[in-house]
Amino acid sequence: MADSKSLDSLFYKPADSFFTDHALTALTYDDITLSTLYSEVIPREAQLDTRLADQLHLRIPVVSADMDTVTEAEMAIALARCGGLGLIHCNMPERTQLSEVSRVKNNVHGLISDPIKAAPDQSIGELLVYLEEKEFTFRTFPVVDSSGRLLGLLPGQVVRQRHAAKKVHEVMTPRSLAPSICDTELGSDPIESADRFFTEHVGTHKLLVVDKEDRLRGLFTLSDVERIRQEHNSQMKPARDSNFRLLCGASLSSPRRANGELDSERILSHVAGLVERGVDTVAISTAHGHSKGVGDMVRLVRGAFKDLPIIAGNVTSAAGVDYLADCGATVVKVGQGPGSICTTRIVAGVGIPQLTALYVASRAAAKKGVTILADGGITKSGDVVKALTLADAVVCGGLLAGCPEAPGSVMEINGKLYKQYRGMGSLAAMSAGSAARYGHAAKDAARKVAAEGIEALKELSPKLDQVMVQMTGGIQSGMGYLGAKNLQELKNNARFIQVSQAGQRESAPHDVIEVKTGS
Ligand code: XMP
Repeated sequence: MADSKSLDSLFYKPADSFFTDHALTALTYDDITLSTLYSEVIPREAQLDTRLADQLHLRIPVVSADMDTVTEAEMAIALARCGGLGLIHCNMPERTQLSEVSRVKNNVHGLISDPIKAAPDQSIGELLVYLEEKEFTFRTFPVVDSSGRLLGLLPGQVVRQRHAAKKVHEVMTPRSLAPSICDTELGSDPIESADRFFTEHVGTHKLLVVDKEDRLRGLFTLSDVERIRQEHNSQMKPARDSNFRLLCGASLSSPRRANGELDSERILSHVAGLVERGVDTVAISTAHGHSKGVGDMVRLVRGAFKDLPIIAGNVTSAAGVDYLADCGATVVKVGQGPGSICTTRIVAGVGIPQLTALYVASRAAAKKGVTILADGGITKSGDVVKALTLADAVVCGGLLAGCPEAPGSVMEINGKLYKQYRGMGSLAAMSAGSAARYGHAAKDAARKVAAEGIEALKELSPKLDQVMVQMTGGIQSGMGYLGAKNLQELKNNARFIQVSQAGQRESAPHDVIEVKTGS
């Protein structure tokens, strides 16, 4: 009789032997389960941080899909606050995408190091026009002279149409009354110093930072400082860049000239705009990433932006991963047809169930030194645990599309509340701009013969932070069962076994009348 260890290893296999044993069958999340291991890990202490690229670290391994019913600034802000990353979709004018990225990057600051300033001779009317043009929502401005010296503070209540004819210097709070601190007094914890200042100066909402020559060096706002202080105590830690700004990604479209060539000038100038606004990564998302068009696009962006993390996809083969990595991608998206609104497998007869695709891609990615994202088909936290045994993070569409932070309004049907969720390969989304993602010309989108996605509804779900608490709790629970303190240990410890159809039924609530759902 075999000892316990060999008995276990006869049935529960590590990824390499499990997936090669099942080489002729494509498996997805529900087809397998993970066997548990001896554990000393307390689930809530399991670490969920992941590194997608040298400059791209997430606190939780969750990325929101670059789809027009999933990720705009509101979703990206909410997800980055929970520690993940939002990819702003590109079914919108380039200008709008730039301002969506700005909204995320400017959302919560510690010190705003380069605040928007007003000049003393500017009129309030001119300032209002500028604010509208830039779509800025704030109204309080430091006033500086041409050499950057602080002259005063323009309070929000005077930046109004009724004062349009007045000059800034006539209505500003003068320098002597403007709340300020010298940068040398900030010490090692500037947020703590700013917090103390606001406590001591009741009613003050802005704090200007100046250097010894009284040149403006930055600005703290009370609401940002309060939010940051709260974060120290909250369970979820935001994902931030090295300047303490929330992380944000943006999806790129691939406009072409009349002769069919990529419009490189337009693409590069847009990426430059995104980088200028602080974007942390760009995504080149298509249905078929292992193709010349996608390779050209990745090479073009990589050629001009050596250090920018590039996410590219989608692929399901090792050769696809190699190709995108060789073109310059840093992160490869894996998934063809698993999405909840996808019809690629039905329409085109292609695509690979997700776990097999992830296994193949993960082995190629490890050789190339790139990371991978499991994109599509995630419907529950258990799927995320399974995906993370092979991938570095997951991309979610449907799971987030019902959140209030997703774009689009809430609609009521027969007393229930819903939000729209549509595939980027659906006719409606392609007409709105995503045709190239599915290999079609924009002008053909309206009469495109074979859509590869559907238009659907998602029941309105709780706010994103609550969805993320549930999801991360589930992931940590899975890690606890596998004795994994962090995601690398989850990968190392995972042992798989296939589940029969009866086993799948057994895995969900059964033979009871459900009175309260688990979610
Ligand atoms: P979930 O399952 O999270 O999937 O809703 C989101 C992912 O699905 C992909 N996607 C599509 N795939 N036709 C497809 O075949 C489509 O119309 C479509 N729209 C999105 C995409 O990878 C997304 O992240």
